[in-house]
Amino acid sequence: MTPHVSIDPSILYFGTPVVLVSTIGADGRPNLAPISSVFWLGHTAVIGLGRRSRTLANLAETGQCVLNLPSVHQVGAVDRLALTTGNDPVSARKRAVGYRYEPDKFGRAGVTPAESTTVAPSRVAECPVHLEATVTHIHALGGSDGGTAAVELTVTHVHVEESLKVAGTANRIDPDRWRPLIMSFQQFYGLGDRVRPSTLSSIAEEWYR
Ligand SMILES: Cc1cc2nc3c(=O)[nH]c(=O)nc-3n(C[C@H](O)[C@H](O)[C@H](O)COP(=O)(O)O)c2cc1C
Repeated sequence: MTPHVSIDPSILYFGTPVVLVSTIGADGRPNLAPISSVFWLGHTAVIGLGRRSRTLANLAETGQCVLNLPSVHQVGAVDRLALTTGNDPVSARKRAVGYRYEPDKFGRAGVTPAESTTVAPSRVAECPVHLEATVTHIHALGGSDGGTAAVELTVTHVHVEESLKVAGTANRIDPDRWRPLIMSFQQFYGLGDRVRPSTLSSIAEEWYR
């Protein structure tokens, strides 16, 4: 066995999918921000946001968003949004590491807004998956993560590119075709191939509904 050592890493970002969160403020201004703190349980999604982000303010103001899931092919658009914020002025802490105000995030990313079905914020047409969602609860996180919040969302409508579906099914996504963009310790990755047959997959997906 490889020996282990004790370390004190500044971040614990061991690898999660990237999401482009589309929101609008009470003033009607759209925003789009990359995040990667996200998980799903049933049709609940939980995202982690810095408490001073424009996205969190918009979610508190208007209660709706679209979680746009980029594949590895949209990594350029995601990276063009890095170090931008919809907040003006930019906080001193963010300015010090190079963040700047960007009022036109869709333009900056070079992506196309598409009308949503159940919420007001736009979808990102280029992303293969769009999860429209409403805010259920905003939880301020305590402890050493006092500057962050977990936003609990209810997914209200799902759009996927037709090519991601398992052929002949109405509602199933083929994980061999869905290639999420993953962020790990501030770097971008894709997924490798399936590593072995999965015992859990003996359960029919409909059982979870
Ligand atoms: C790939 C990527 C992943 C990120 N993940 C998160 C995250 O999970 N939570 C977060 O608050 N910020 C995250 N950030 C930083 C936000 O994008 C940044 O705080 C941005 O200013 C938010 O935009 P806004 O202020 O317009 O909402 C990430 C940035 C990138 C490029």
